[in-house]
Amino acid sequence: MEKETMAVETLKKFNQDHIIDWMNKLNEEEKNKLEEQVLNLNIEQVIDMYNNLSQTFEIGDKKIEKISVTDIDKLSKEDFDNLKNTGIEIIKNGKYAVVTMAGGQGTRLGHTGPKGTFKVNLKNGEKYLFQIIVESLQKANEKYGVIIPWYIMTSEENNDQTLAFLEEHSYFGYPQEKVKLFKQGKAPLISKEGKLLIGKDKLIKEASDGNGSIYKSLSVDGILDDMKNNNIEWVFVGGVDNILLKIVDPLLVGVTINEGNQIASKSVIKTNPRERAGVFCKIDGKPGIIEYSELPEEMIEEVDENGELVFGDVNILSHLYNIKALEQLANMKMPYHIAIKKSDYLDENGNLVVPEDKNVYKFESFIFDVFSSFDNISILRVKREEEFAPIKNKEGNDSPETAVKLYNARD
Ligand code: UTP
Repeated sequence: MEKETMAVETLKKFNQDHIIDWMNKLNEEEKNKLEEQVLNLNIEQVIDMYNNLSQTFEIGDKKIEKISVTDIDKLSKEDFDNLKNTGIEIIKNGKYAVVTMAGGQGTRLGHTGPKGTFKVNLKNGEKYLFQIIVESLQKANEKYGVIIPWYIMTSEENNDQTLAFLEEHSYFGYPQEKVKLFKQGKAPLISKEGKLLIGKDKLIKEASDGNGSIYKSLSVDGILDDMKNNNIEWVFVGGVDNILLKIVDPLLVGVTINEGNQIASKSVIKTNPRERAGVFCKIDGKPGIIEYSELPEEMIEEVDENGELVFGDVNILSHLYNIKALEQLANMKMPYHIAIKKSDYLDENGNLVVPEDKNVYKFESFIFDVFSSFDNISILRVKREEEFAPIKNKEGNDSPETAVKLYNARD
């Protein structure tokens, strides 16, 4: 079937006739581009999600229980050393890789450009977030006599800028052949009325679909194969914006191997029960993370017999996976969380409409939602002041100012 006919039929099938009308107003080149996009979009999935908004992820009446964690402070010196040595063997043998998730939009920080290109003024000089990561990798490489492969997840919106930035800075001295960028997934935005929107570029508006798309993207973009070809067994995945993130930690690897698990994560204790952070728990008997807003009120301040918060282990986006777990997760259907956002668009006459209120649904998957497909996870509780200094907001909590203070205090 001809490309044009196929695109038109798809749009008709999903009641998107306004896009067909729009298409007919475009010149040949623009029309071609739009048809191409329609054929590559997974419209069916988005419409399906729109039609089933109530089926997106919800805690509902799921059973929330405490999950057990390994507290770094409670390990004996002997256990600590043995576990660490187990991890060191893995790293020394070149079986460890690092993935940095840098596909987010960093809307709260409001920095123009990818978040990794944000600069902070530290005690030991001004550094970009990407540079801080490179320096941790280089330190580990020297210590263990290896060159750890570094993969960076970008998004359609920021991939080119990220690449240009890293090239401009010569990858901050990291061997370029050991750095690979890959793009995360995206999904069309959809209006409250269930309609696709046209953006300023005269194409259907799309946006990144959350950091949960990492699993599929690792596989689709050939990164998983690259890891396997390089005999990688353990993969660390972390965010781009925690300047104290320990991206190479043999202890985490050792604990996970020792506990016989395929996945692991680190936690820090809540500063107070009302800290707005996602915490580890068991959801219907399986490992999971529950967002602050979803935690039932009576559980927020609940303490155990030792006076410790039952739901006090905060997720710091510091995850570890066995390569087999990543293979298994590549084809996993992820639940979607809905966000309602404000998005401008072109109306049927090509005029830009800037809405005053939120007008579109954005579907996002979260990286931790797959934890429930495992029976167990290793959780290593570490010291907040040593490993957690996130940069989320422009000012106030979790801002450059608070993060720099924490960083300088550790050094
Ligand atoms: P956040 O959820 O904090 O989002 O991402 P963000 O984009 O940095 O900031 P806001 O919410 O827009 O202000 C946590 C980590 O996950 C990555 C981010 O780059 C960050 O490292 N992420 C987030 C992605 O890689 N892709 C996404 O679609 C979302």
